[in-house]
Amino acid sequence: MFRNAAAVYLRLVRHKGRKAGASLTRHLHQTVSVLAPVLSHLHGSGLLGSGIVLASKLYMSILLQEAFPDCSLVVSPSLALASLAEVQVGVEGWLVLILHSLPRVELVQLASESDAVNLGQGFPDFPPPDFAVEAFQQAISGNFMLNQYTRAFGYPPLTKILASFFGKQLGQELDPLTNVLVTVGAYGALFTAFQALVDEGDEVIIIEPSFDCYKPMTLMAGGHPVFVALKPSPTQDGELDSSSNWQLDPTELASKFTSRTKALVLNTPNNPLGKVFSRAELELVASLCQQHNVVCISDEVYQWIVYDGHQHISIASLPGMWERTLTIGSAGKTFSVTGWKVGWVLGPDNIMKHLRTVHQNSVYHCPTQAQAAVAQCFEREQLHFGQPSSYFVQLPQALQRHRDHMIRSLQSVGLKPVIPQGSYFLITDISGFKSKIPDLPGAADEPYDRRFLKWMIKNKGLAAIPVSIFCNVQHQMPFDHYVRFCFAKDESTLRAMDEKLQQWKSDLRP
Ligand SMILES: Cc1ncc(COP(=O)(O)O)c(C=O)c1O
Repeated sequence: MFRNAAAVYLRLVRHKGRKAGASLTRHLHQTVSVLAPVLSHLHGSGLLGSGIVLASKLYMSILLQEAFPDCSLVVSPSLALASLAEVQVGVEGWLVLILHSLPRVELVQLASESDAVNLGQGFPDFPPPDFAVEAFQQAISGNFMLNQYTRAFGYPPLTKILASFFGKQLGQELDPLTNVLVTVGAYGALFTAFQALVDEGDEVIIIEPSFDCYKPMTLMAGGHPVFVALKPSPTQDGELDSSSNWQLDPTELASKFTSRTKALVLNTPNNPLGKVFSRAELELVASLCQQHNVVCISDEVYQWIVYDGHQHISIASLPGMWERTLTIGSAGKTFSVTGWKVGWVLGPDNIMKHLRTVHQNSVYHCPTQAQAAVAQCFEREQLHFGQPSSYFVQLPQALQRHRDHMIRSLQSVGLKPVIPQGSYFLITDISGFKSKIPDLPGAADEPYDRRFLKWMIKNKGLAAIPVSIFCNVQHQMPFDHYVRFCFAKDESTLRAMDEKLQQWKSDLRP
């Protein structure tokens, strides 16, 4: 498993989110310096195999834990995890990684400790539609065989309805047996896709800001993430920015494709920005993928959640793209049931067969009852499609009201929301606060948005997510003056937000 000494990593994660400062880093460096020659010797003598590696890892762990009792230590065999760390200390082929803290986890914990209104995490806190609840109830109380395993690649009635429903959307005849794979949520679909497609050294183009698992999933498959950023164009004074103003530079995008590029990850509507890619933007991505023989992993989990008459277009429906696209969806986002964790991938059999191999040798079966319930939800939607009774019509209408409510409220304290065209989320510009609140909590080298959020959670009772976590560590600076709010929230949560914002507004009065 461990091919060489450099493939053994230690990750230190501090408890309580306290930061690993310079003295810790120095101390750690000294500890590793003592151990490194011993380990290098073992490596040089060819003894660094199995038992010895384990023993030396254990020994090193014990010493490090004694030296840093307030750190939790994770020993990881993965070379890829190296680039996830914020601080890396290398000594003679050994690399010790310190993660300052896990910002998402730390901020969620801080929010619950401070009893803040949680507008951070992306899940609806309102009930799913009645037909979905009834479908699940029926699945658990009806046919007793739904308590047992089903077909590994998807419960047949679900793959059948997904093939027929999405076949119409994509303009393709889909075979439920070969073009559809049911997974544990869209997360499972993404993981299976990366594992199946990406080999050691392959490059994967990721559009920033991006959903935060694309990078680690690329690395875990042995790939190399290549980033290209959406950039905002300037707005008129006083005008709110819109996610449609954030665009890719075509020349920069083209320059990211090389002979090693295996895949490009597209996410439309995008999390965290809420951008819905236009047909022209998709055509640009499509032509580059075709020119360079690249697969497009298209994450479309928010495809039904689009506003202001914008239209979601699946890139797989463009000419020549079905053959090279994996289209990923989520029942969680589609029917407001994120806890069911049912997702899917649609694609051509010559690519899907590799995903089936990964799925069969990792997850194998997804829960049968949840799949049965999702099948019933899609059967219902197929009948109501395009009508006012369709959930795919009702959900975006309701969420657009919540979006507009949140935009108005956030502006009242000087926050500047970027109007999203789709998704559950909006990001808001916080740069105006830099001069107003000079003393933010956290360390000086921590991204500004994280420090701002710690302040906002503690002092204003509102929790959100820093946008810098959706970017590569080296690229955080342009994005560190935005925070992401989720507006897929119940009216009562939005009222609680308003109360906090009114208090904030009254604090602003001289
Ligand atoms: C862009 C994006 N893709 C995938 C997922 C994961 O979806 P699921 O809950 O179905 O695993 C999420 C969840 O937040 C998401 O925002």
